[in-house]
Amino acid sequence: MIRAVYPGSFDPITNGHIYIAERASSLFDELCVAVLHNPQKRATFSVDERQAMAREATSHLPNVRIKSFEGLLVDFMRKEQSRIIIRGLRALSDFEYEFQLALMNRQLAPEIETLFIVTDAQYSYLSSRAIKEVFHFGGSVQGMVPPGVFRRLRERFPPKNSFRE
Ligand code: PNS
Repeated sequence: MIRAVYPGSFDPITNGHIYIAERASSLFDELCVAVLHNPQKRATFSVDERQAMAREATSHLPNVRIKSFEGLLVDFMRKEQSRIIIRGLRALSDFEYEFQLALMNRQLAPEIETLFIVTDAQYSYLSSRAIKEVFHFGGSVQGMVPPGVFRRLRERFPPKNSFRE
């Protein structure tokens, strides 16, 4: 049984994240989407909300489980008995940060491997931060987030004008 872990802030999960989860879940027996709970950093959505959105958005993938973690990712990996970290890559600009993260994790836990899955071109410009900003200022985020996330964005940032779909 090979279990991979796809960690992230997922604040909120986007269609780009879902694409990576779909591809990763087809490669392994089980994929654990691990939502970071970082009490030092204020997220837009609580860890429970982020987990709920991720759960709804991946309900079509039977081998995906959603969990949260606090502290070091490598400690969570060991607890989950997984040696595979999945990360998505959008553009070259992601690489420096991801390279640092992967090497730090390898230093901490040499038995764990980080595998990168390249996003689809249609999602290459998406980020949770940009989506929240666009939504907040009334822009359309159609095709960027799943329906459950759209609903929660609307609750969090009530509409200011009619341009938003
Ligand atoms: O979606 P993100 O914010 O790019 O995900 C980053 C994440 C959660 C993978 C990373 O910040 C993380 O693993 N944090 C847990 C703390 C940790 O293990 N740090 C050591 C590596 S620098």
